[in-house]
Amino acid sequence: MSFHIVEQATPRLNRSELAVPGSRTELFEKAAQSDVDVIFLDCEDAVAPDEKEQARKNIIEALNDIDWGTKTMSVRINGLDTHYMYRDVVDILEQGGDRLDMIMIPKVGTASDVYAVDMLVTQVEDAMGRTKRIGFEHIIETALGMANVNEIASASKRNESLHFGVADYAASTKARTTVIGGPHPDYGVLTDKDGDAPRDYHWGDMWHYAISRMVVAARANGLRPVDGPFGDFQDPDGYRAQANRAAVIGCEGKWAIHPSQVALANEIYSPSEAEVTKAKRILEAMAEAQREGKGAVSLDGRLIDLASIRQAENMVAKAAVISGA
Ligand code: COA
Ligand code: MG
Repeated sequence: MSFHIVEQATPRLNRSELAVPGSRTELFEKAAQSDVDVIFLDCEDAVAPDEKEQARKNIIEALNDIDWGTKTMSVRINGLDTHYMYRDVVDILEQGGDRLDMIMIPKVGTASDVYAVDMLVTQVEDAMGRTKRIGFEHIIETALGMANVNEIASASKRNESLHFGVADYAASTKARTTVIGGPHPDYGVLTDKDGDAPRDYHWGDMWHYAISRMVVAARANGLRPVDGPFGDFQDPDGYRAQANRAAVIGCEGKWAIHPSQVALANEIYSPSEAEVTKAKRILEAMAEAQREGKGAVSLDGRLIDLASIRQAENMVAKAAVISGA
């Protein structure tokens, strides 16, 4: 281990995160009744400019009046380049009661963006005597945000998670796609010529680098990396594939833009019974190895060592949190 200890952000279950436009009050109860881990009520891009003021009022009322159970509650504020943003922070923190846990900052570009929101939030919290500190979720969804992802991740003690905002990221990098998440048929490799043998075309994951880079920045700073939206809510198989590949490289959850995606995310981001059983066997085998003074042994014909303990402990700890949820 490095001498530098990575402090972990406030632990929260973040397998699924449901986007709920602040202008659509009829969705609020449905979201509150769902099994989602985190809800973000949106002031930003799912709300038309003419509806911004009303959406903010709806959100304040809903935070005060609706029973959100044990869910983690967040509000996505407008971008720092708009004149809506300061009032989102001030009004929601002044009038929204104590239920709010986090603020989601869209299109964050630099560490100074985080600093600016931190300053504003701190002032309102102090003025209102709020004792519960608001956490920050950052959407990495611009080329600038990705270029500065490490600095953003370490810019505030309020930071809790980084989210990959695939659609805005595509727009910002001028990627040749108009869908929200998912693969692109032109992003692939054709196997080399091999005599007359037929050649295979393999689709690749055009978002692999971006998500991996965000995962590293998040984990290096003790934050949760979370994969963003998958727009085609009538394609559960597509959602499942996208969620799985992000889970495998370290993401803790994925957004849901529709209630039907919540159960998928919760399932995919929970370790399976088989995985937990295997992790427990690894811990038992390593405990036995350590009693015998060995650092590495074989289990089912495969090497396990001290790194396996850390992987297995993560898995077992996650399962314990989920079963207690
Ligand atoms: N949160 C809570 N409930 C939702 C919901 C959401 N995000 N999206 C849909 N529902 C509800 C609907 O109200 C409907 O409820 P009902 O059965 O009681 O009538 C049910 O789930 C089925 O909805 P459906 O008719 O299939 O969808 P829709 O046409 O009403 O809405 C969208 C489709 C995509 C417009 C809607 O899901 C939505 O606005 N999602 C969020 C988009 C967003 O926030 N984007 C920004 C982040 S990427
Ligand atoms: Mg966006």
